[in-house]
Amino acid sequence: MAGEIRVLISEQQIAKRLDELAEVIGRDYKNRKLHCIGVLKGSFIFMADLVRRLPMDVSCDFLTISSYGDLTKSSGVVKLLTDLTVPIEGKDVLVVEDIVDTGLTLDYLLGNLKTRNPASLRVATLLHKPTNKKIEVPIHYCGFTVPDRFVVGYGLDNRQLQRNLPYIGWVPGDGDNE
Ligand code: IMP
Repeated sequence: MAGEIRVLISEQQIAKRLDELAEVIGRDYKNRKLHCIGVLKGSFIFMADLVRRLPMDVSCDFLTISSYGDLTKSSGVVKLLTDLTVPIEGKDVLVVEDIVDTGLTLDYLLGNLKTRNPASLRVATLLHKPTNKKIEVPIHYCGFTVPDRFVVGYGLDNRQLQRNLPYIGWVPGDGDNE
């Protein structure tokens, strides 16, 4: 199974990039509290590794989103499966995403969160796949830009599996021409 997956971004590269992102976020929110919202399920590992690097006071919450489509392409039909547990009004909110592909999921989510009147609303995504962009969405902190391939690992799944890989990999033949 794991033999079919090729490493795109190694564990070491992820750790180094997260150090850099945390330093920038730490500077941007100096002396402020940050409320991080992890978008489940894909962001759970990124969220855990990112918040542990942040120097300021951090609170965490999660919501679950499903975006319907075929197995490797988002349709843009987004559904909120589980909501936040606490209000975000007046808080500095950082949405923590696994990957922005078409942007449709994030666009829906930001529209939803804005109606709840946070003091500020920013986005951190581990991965950005700009080739499939269907809508412009703000990305304030981005780990890596990836090519138009279906990627797995470090939280991202292929049919609910492979989230536990410690690196970002890609499956040859799945969503690409190789
Ligand atoms: P978007 O709405 O097209 O931006 O897609 C967002 C969601 O689709 C992400 O949060 C992922 O759950 C999923 N997704 C998009 N591309 C990939 C991929 O390459 N691997 C795994 N999941 C993906």
